[in-house]
Amino acid sequence: MVRREHERAVIALERRLGLSSVRTDEAALVAASRDESEAEVVLPAAVVVPRSASDVATILKVCAEHGAPVVPRGAGTGRTGGSAVVTSSIVLDTTSLDAVKSIERADGYAVVEPGVVTGRFHEVCEREGLFFPPDPQSAEWCTLGGNVAENAGGPRALAYGVTRDYVLGMRAVTMQGDELVVGRRTAKGVTGYDMTSLLVGSEGTLAVFTELWLRVIVAPQVVRTLLATFASVHAAGLAVEAVLRAGIVPRCVELLDELCCASVREIDTAALPPDATVALIIEVDGDEARCDALLERLGATLDASHARAVLVAKHGGDRERLWAARKVLSRALRKRAAHKLSEDVVVPRSKLAALLDDVRAISSREAIVMPTYGHAGDGNLHVNLLWNTPDERPRVDRAIRALFERTIAHGGTLSGEHGIGVMKRDFLTLEQSPALVAAQRAIKLALDPRDLLNPHKVLPRISHRAC
Ligand code: LAC
Ligand code: ZN
Repeated sequence: MVRREHERAVIALERRLGLSSVRTDEAALVAASRDESEAEVVLPAAVVVPRSASDVATILKVCAEHGAPVVPRGAGTGRTGGSAVVTSSIVLDTTSLDAVKSIERADGYAVVEPGVVTGRFHEVCEREGLFFPPDPQSAEWCTLGGNVAENAGGPRALAYGVTRDYVLGMRAVTMQGDELVVGRRTAKGVTGYDMTSLLVGSEGTLAVFTELWLRVIVAPQVVRTLLATFASVHAAGLAVEAVLRAGIVPRCVELLDELCCASVREIDTAALPPDATVALIIEVDGDEARCDALLERLGATLDASHARAVLVAKHGGDRERLWAARKVLSRALRKRAAHKLSEDVVVPRSKLAALLDDVRAISSREAIVMPTYGHAGDGNLHVNLLWNTPDERPRVDRAIRALFERTIAHGGTLSGEHGIGVMKRDFLTLEQSPALVAAQRAIKLALDPRDLLNPHKVLPRISHRAC
C-alpha cells in the first residue's frame, strides 16, 4: 500500500524533475520492486531516474521532507534483497548515470558514474591495456554502483581482492541531500576516518553514490586456465587446501560439485568432460614464464591430491567454454526446482573440506537438495538450497540456520560477496555481538537520523525502533 505522504513526495518530484524522470506505471514499479533474491516485496510509489548528481540530491531532499523512504538501485542483480522494496518507498534508479568520465592512467584510477555496467567498464579498461579485476558473474548486467554498495567479488578475488580493494573514494549524497566527497585520488592517504571503506558494502543504507574513483591496474599479459576433475567434493576441497598450502596463488579456483556439473551438462552437454564428477576451474596469469611455472607446480600438486584428470585449456575457445559452464550454473540450478536460494558463506580456507562435509550432512539430515559451487580458493561457497513445495520450507530454514552455525563454528562469516540485505539480517547476531550491532546502528542514524535510506536492510530487526 502506497502511503499518502509518499504520493505527495511523488507529485513534488514530478514538479522538480519533470514527468519523464518519474515512472509510476505498473511495469516499471514491478520491475523495480525486486532483485534476484527470494525477498518478499511490495510495489514502490514511484521509480525516479536522476540525470545528474544534483538530481540525486534533489530526490533525497524531497523524499526526506515528505518522510518517504528511498531504495537506491542499480541493475537489481543482488542476491540478498539489498535493492528489494520491502516497505512503501520511492526507488532511486541510478542506471542513467552511466558515464565513464575519465581514465587517469598515470595516477591509476578511473572516474565513473554508478550506473556504468561492470562488463562495459571491463571493456573500456581492456581497450586501454588496463585491468579492473572485480568480476561478479553478473558483470554483463550489474552496475559498478551496485558492486560498490555490495562489495561484490567474483572468481578473480583470490589473487586480486574484492571491489573494496579498488575503491579510492567517491562522491555520495546523504538522505539529507548533503554531498560527501570521500576518500582520495592519491596512491596513499590517512585523512580522517576511512569513510570510503564504511560506504563500500553499506548496501545503500548510508548514502547514494554519484561518482566513484576506481583503482585500475596494468593488465596481465597472459592468462591460462585448467580444469581438474575429482571423484568427490571432499577430495576437491583437500586439493584446494593443498594448492594454497604450497604457496601457489592462482587468480581463480572455482569449485563445481556433482550436482552442479550434472546441471551444467543438462544445458550444454560438451561444456565439461564426461568424467568430470566434481570439477575445479583454476586460472593463472602473468607473463608466459610465470604461467608455465605455476601450471607445472599446480599439475604436480593436483596429481598428488588425487585429481582424476588435469586438462589445460589449449586455446581461447576451450577457456571460454569452461567459463561459460561456470556462468550458466546459477540458471542451470534454477531449472531444477521451483525455488532456489543461494547462500554465500566463507570459511578459513583450511576449513573448506570440513564445510563441504557439513553441507553434505545438513543436506541429508533435512532432505533438501543443496548443490554447492563457488570461489573455493577464497573459502567462499555458494551453497544453494532447492525445493518445490511449501511444506519443505521449514526444513530449508533449518538447513540455512545449520549452515550458518557450522560456518561460524569454523571461524567463518555469513557473506563473502552478496551482502546481508533483508535475507540475512536476522542472522547477523550469530556472528556479531550486540555491542557491534549497536555501534553500526548508531552510525546509520548519524548519517540518516530518520532511517529513511533503504530501511530494514543489513541490521537486524528490532521491536522498538530507535526513531
Ligand atoms: C556466482 C555469484 C552467484 O559466483 O556470486 O556465480
Ligand atoms: Zn560468487
